[in-house]
Amino acid sequence: MKDRSTNATDAGNVTKVTKVYDNVAEGIIAVYYPRGSLAGNVLRRHSMQVAEAALAVARRVSGPYPDRSFIRFIREAALLHDIGIFRTSAPEIGCTGPHPYVCHGYLGRKILEEHGMPAHAMVCERHVGAGLTAGDIRDLNLPVPVRDMLPQTLEEEIVCFADCFFSKTPAPGGTRHRPEDVIAMLETYGSEKAERFRRWLDRFGPPP
Ligand SMILES: [Fe+2]
Repeated sequence: MKDRSTNATDAGNVTKVTKVYDNVAEGIIAVYYPRGSLAGNVLRRHSMQVAEAALAVARRVSGPYPDRSFIRFIREAALLHDIGIFRTSAPEIGCTGPHPYVCHGYLGRKILEEHGMPAHAMVCERHVGAGLTAGDIRDLNLPVPVRDMLPQTLEEEIVCFADCFFSKTPAPGGTRHRPEDVIAMLETYGSEKAERFRRWLDRFGPPP
C-alpha cells in the first residue's frame, strides 16, 4: 500500500528534517537499525517527522494542560510505529527482510510486544493504510493476518493520521503530502479510507 516512494504530485514537496527524540524509543530503534545505515536514516527521519506532526495534533486536542503521559505515549508510539520495516523487502530504503512491505505493521506489533509495550504495539499494527478492516485484507488479498486493524484509541488515530502526511524516501528531507494528495491516494484503496482521513482532518486539523 502507500508509503515509501514519491510521485508526480508530491515530488519536490520536501520538508525540514525534525529532531523529535526519545530515549526509550531510540533504545529500541538502535537494536534493529544501526546509525548511519540507509534503513536507519530513513526510519529515524520519517519517524521524527511523524512524531512532530502527531505531537502538534496531540497538543491541539489537549488544550492548555496536556496530560504528560498522553504526550509521552504519542512521542514514543510515533517514533516506533514503523519499527517493523526492516523485516520487509524494500531495498530502496535499505530493508532486506523476507516479508512484503505491507506486513510491517503487524511485524512491528510483534517486536514491541517482545519489548513489553503492548499499547505501542497496537499503534504499529493499526497504522497501515489509514487502517485496515478484515474485509479490506480479504478483498485486497493482503498477505497479513485476517483481522481488523483499524485505529481504536485517540492515540492510535493521531499517529495514523500524522503518518498519512509523510512518505519514507531516501531523498534528503523526506516527502510531505498535501491533504488532497493523501485523500486521492486513499481513494484508490477504497472510499471509506479517504472518508476516515477526512473525518480526522476535520477533527484534528492539518499538522503545522
Ligand atoms: Fe510511517
